Amino acid sequence: MSLCLTIFFAIIFFYCRPSYVSSQPYDYPTTNLSTSWINSVSANHSINFSDNSTVRAILLRGTFGPRYACGFYCNGNCETYLFAIFIVQTNSGGGIVMPSSGFPQVVWSANRENPVGINATLELTSEGDLVLRDADGTLAWSTNTSGMSVVGLNLTEMGNLVLFDAKNSTVWQSFDHPTDALVPGQILVSGQNLTASVSPTNWTQGGLFSLSMISNGLVASIQADPPQAYYVNLYNNVKQNQESSYARFQNGSIQLYINSTEPSDPDISISIPQATSAQYIKLGHDGHLRVLEWRTPWTEVVDIFTGHLGECNYPMVCGKYGICSNGQCSCPRSSSGAINFRQINDRQPDLGCSEAIHLTCNASGNHSFLNLEDVTYFNFKVDIRGTNLNSCQEACLKNCSCKAAIFQYGSNSSDGNCYMPSQIFSIMNNEKDKTHYNSSVSIKVQIASSVTSPSVETSPGSTTEGNNRFLGLVLGSTLGIFCVAVVIGLTYFTYWKKKKSVTVEEDYLDHVPGMPTRFSYEELVTATDNFSKKLGEGGFGTVFEGSLKDNTKIAVKCLDGMGHIKKSFLAEVESIGSIHHVNLVRLIGFSAEKSHRLLVYEYMSNGSLDRWIHNKTQVSALDWNCRRKIILDIAKGLSYLHEDCRQKIIHLDIKPQNILLDENYNAKLADFGLAKLIDRDQSQVVTVMRGTPGYLAPEWLSAVITEKVDVYSFGVVILEILCGRKIFEQSMLEEDRHLLSIFKRKAMEGQLLDLVDKCCEDMQSNGTRVVEMMQIAAWCLQSYYVNRPSMSMVVKVIEGVKHVAKDLDYNFTNPQYCMNNIQLVDSKDVTPLLPSVLSGPR
Ligand SMILES: *[C@@H]1O[C@H](CO)[C@@H](O)[C@H](O)[C@H]1NC(C)=O
Ligand SMILES: *[C@@H]1O[C@H](CO)[C@@H](O)[C@H](O)[C@H]1NC(C)=O
Ligand SMILES: *[C@@H]1O[C@H](CO)[C@@H](O)[C@H](O)[C@H]1NC(C)=O
Ligand SMILES: *[C@@H]1O[C@H](CO)[C@@H](O)[C@H](O)[C@H]1NC(C)=O
Ligand SMILES: *[C@@H]1O[C@H](CO)[C@@H](O)[C@H](O)[C@H]1NC(C)=O
Ligand SMILES: *[C@@H]1O[C@H](CO)[C@@H](O)[C@H](O)[C@H]1NC(C)=O
Ligand SMILES: *[C@@H]1O[C@H](CO)[C@@H](O)[C@H](O)[C@H]1NC(C)=O
Ligand SMILES: *[C@@H]1O[C@H](CO)[C@@H](O)[C@H](O)[C@H]1NC(C)=O
Ligand SMILES: *[C@@H]1O[C@H](CO)[C@@H](O)[C@H](O)[C@H]1NC(C)=O
Ligand SMILES: *[C@@H]1O[C@H](CO)[C@@H](O)[C@H](O)[C@H]1NC(C)=O
Ligand SMILES: *[C@@H]1O[C@H](CO)[C@@H](O)[C@H](O)[C@H]1NC(C)=O
Ligand SMILES: *[C@@H]1O[C@H](CO)[C@@H](O)[C@H](O)[C@H]1NC(C)=O
Repeated sequence: MSLCLTIFFAIIFFYCRPSYVSSQPYDYPTTNLSTSWINSVSANHSINFSDNSTVRAILLRGTFGPRYACGFYCNGNCETYLFAIFIVQTNSGGGIVMPSSGFPQVVWSANRENPVGINATLELTSEGDLVLRDADGTLAWSTNTSGMSVVGLNLTEMGNLVLFDAKNSTVWQSFDHPTDALVPGQILVSGQNLTASVSPTNWTQGGLFSLSMISNGLVASIQADPPQAYYVNLYNNVKQNQESSYARFQNGSIQLYINSTEPSDPDISISIPQATSAQYIKLGHDGHLRVLEWRTPWTEVVDIFTGHLGECNYPMVCGKYGICSNGQCSCPRSSSGAINFRQINDRQPDLGCSEAIHLTCNASGNHSFLNLEDVTYFNFKVDIRGTNLNSCQEACLKNCSCKAAIFQYGSNSSDGNCYMPSQIFSIMNNEKDKTHYNSSVSIKVQIASSVTSPSVETSPGSTTEGNNRFLGLVLGSTLGIFCVAVVIGLTYFTYWKKKKSVTVEEDYLDHVPGMPTRFSYEELVTATDNFSKKLGEGGFGTVFEGSLKDNTKIAVKCLDGMGHIKKSFLAEVESIGSIHHVNLVRLIGFSAEKSHRLLVYEYMSNGSLDRWIHNKTQVSALDWNCRRKIILDIAKGLSYLHEDCRQKIIHLDIKPQNILLDENYNAKLADFGLAKLIDRDQSQVVTVMRGTPGYLAPEWLSAVITEKVDVYSFGVVILEILCGRKIFEQSMLEEDRHLLSIFKRKAMEGQLLDLVDKCCEDMQSNGTRVVEMMQIAAWCLQSYYVNRPSMSMVVKVIEGVKHVAKDLDYNFTNPQYCMNNIQLVDSKDVTPLLPSVLSGPR
């Protein structure tokens, strides 16, 4: 028996040997008055850990396992120390052990603001004051309990450091002064809060985040004036002034008692995984509230807010002014291309963005807005109720401390709410909540103050095009440096773009990473035999046939001779170059020399789809299966652009001319020049009407432009393919000119079969399936864009995995109205309503 015991202890001893420090056989949880401890290297119970932290334990309670101790603590370079309570591993003798990963976990500290150095002294004075002094005698911290009948200091089982009197009642306790952590059993009473440290090694509570227990619940907020909350868990319908409310952290939950007290049920219970070992909660320097548990090693068992919030809802997730989208950070960009914000550190996007020109109060005339659509902010406080975007921005311009006009509305954009925060932290994509409300953030930016032009001193709302003027203003801010006259007018705008595009763009293009081949102009002259074989003329220039040295056939699109080429060219090169999909025409290369801009595409031997469906003899060659396949191909290409690309791309000009067929009649989408690149985190409003009459969705005339405009155009294309005719045929009888009018009429009459292309027998014999496909078209053509399916849904329906929505509305928006409107503005294909950076070559 005794042999067994000897072996047992030998094993224990062996196991603990490398880190067995204490010579004392027992724990040491209490102390009497007139005791002092020095933070010296030779102190008892001093141990260095492999994470470069050191503890010098003063009191320690319990043996064998994760236990609470208090004493001096440091980490990193150990130039400064805390007097802290920490959790350490102990052996049966009350010695602190050093398992490979059981670093001390600090759960409370006395002097975060005033760390002390080596040789500092902690003393429990004969008067009962617990005092921490640095080596030179300066006071770092004290409990101020002199003369309060303290007789001793006790580190309790729960990790509470208590000064008690002769009656064993508590005079002072660390639980009343929480820092950034809570231990099981600890309560946070109304008015108390946890404050995060600046960083894991900088304990200063200059940390931005705090978690406060208030009268009716828990609120986590970031320091600002006033603080901005990012997590709230409140109990409503409560009696006034619940001063006695509190939160208790216990095994399995955080329980909030607001209108009730224990032992009744808590008013709110935030559940957390039940403890299998020591646990504590810590408010991190990043604002996360984590539950950590000793599972050899310490493991995060749950991130309490993230369950409610999502990764992007943290105020500093992307730093100040950073935009968070799916955890990725970027800086606000104006659709004009003006640089208002720069990344603080290119390698660390999460550090946030800095303003190009610092916002100053005294020149409020020089402010404008960078408007970001479909983004939201973690906090929203209604400063103005029932207003519109213009008034919200106007109010913000007038208020010096307002840093952004945050506007949210439900269905009616003139009845929204406005929030004007005095500080801006991270902004986030509104994808998740878009179904609930619309939200935009207009960031106030400074315009270079050296040049003031009358047009800059605006009174927003005085014109009906407030937004566009703001866009102009934003542009002005960078233009101002170059042009003496800061200009809103289109003339200067265009001039600038022309001027810049030559120099800036070429430099830029040399550095485009992962780009397709860059050809010299000469090479392409040779490849196209001096541009002798014209394939066609698109909206962006002429396309020529050519072949490379290895005999690969190519299509070369010349964008030469165009005015403001820069943006569309870059957009094409950047977007298409990085996008590869079997249903998208591949960009093989490009050339950019002086004024020449050329794009080299894969060659599509069967040309564009319009040649087939608008030509009675050719179209009959396409049987039902072929047409179905073409429709499916287009749907897949679009679905990829909308949903699977790194950046969402809206094509904006889906029509048969932009759908090309290869030798096997595989359809591919071409011409992304019109595509408005939309960062998922920063969808911006398209400010110019784009596309081709007949294919334009009704919302072009009014509402928000989303990828659903492509779905609409796609619906038109389906009909054209199935019916074998153009959307609009001048040569026909008035009532039959517009395909949509007939479609509506035939649908009402239940005679859709009449519409099936009569040129092709195979189409007729597949009539029922063609009519089914027409229903998909009808779904895509729904007037209200929200009711249209996503392209991925369309793919599923064509593939037969899903069904077309019921109750389709065949009362398509009056196409005549649409046509008239567009003709009113411009009779050409494309209808620029406003000056815009999007303007491609015409
Ligand atoms: C504190 O004082 C009491 C009585 O004076 C004594 O019994 C006890 O051992 C002392 N405790 C310590 C830790 O010195
Ligand atoms: C270490 O503990 C022993 C026993 O309690 C004590 O005599 C000694 O003074 C302590 N050493 C230091 C440096 O505090
Ligand atoms: C612990 O580290 C300190 C320096 O931080 C060093 O002076 C001391 O000797 C180390 N102690 C042990 C036991 O390794
Ligand atoms: C500990 O300190 C050493 C020397 O300064 C350093 O090389 C090492 O990376 C540090 N370890 C940790 C975990 O910080
Ligand atoms: C701490 O005190 C010891 C003993 O008095 C002394 O030798 C040492 O230099 C002091 N260290 C510091 C950093 O003051
Ligand atoms: C103790 O009193 C001093 C001076 O009155 C004060 O600065 C300090 O904050 C007090 N400390 C505590 C822990 O209340
Ligand atoms: C110290 O705290 C423990 C609880 O952990 C308690 O049982 C004990 O009575 C306290 N000791 C004194 C002297 O108050
Ligand atoms: C205070 O607590 C200690 C330790 O638990 C116990 O021995 C002592 O009797 C208590 N004193 C009073 C007055 O309750
Ligand atoms: C947190 O508590 C401290 C001290 O009680 C107080 O100064 C601070 O204002 C509080 N912070 C918040 C956000 O309530
Ligand atoms: C700790 O953070 C504070 C507040 O941000 C800063 O002023 C201080 O310089 C930092 N200290 C160290 C050692 O980095
Ligand atoms: C609050 O408590 C009172 C009595 O304690 C009770 O009558 C009332 O219903 C409670 N209110 C809510 C909202 O639970
Ligand atoms: C927490 O509660 C569970 C279930 O009651 C229990 O199994 C577990 O041991 C408890 N953990 C602690 C640390 O008390």
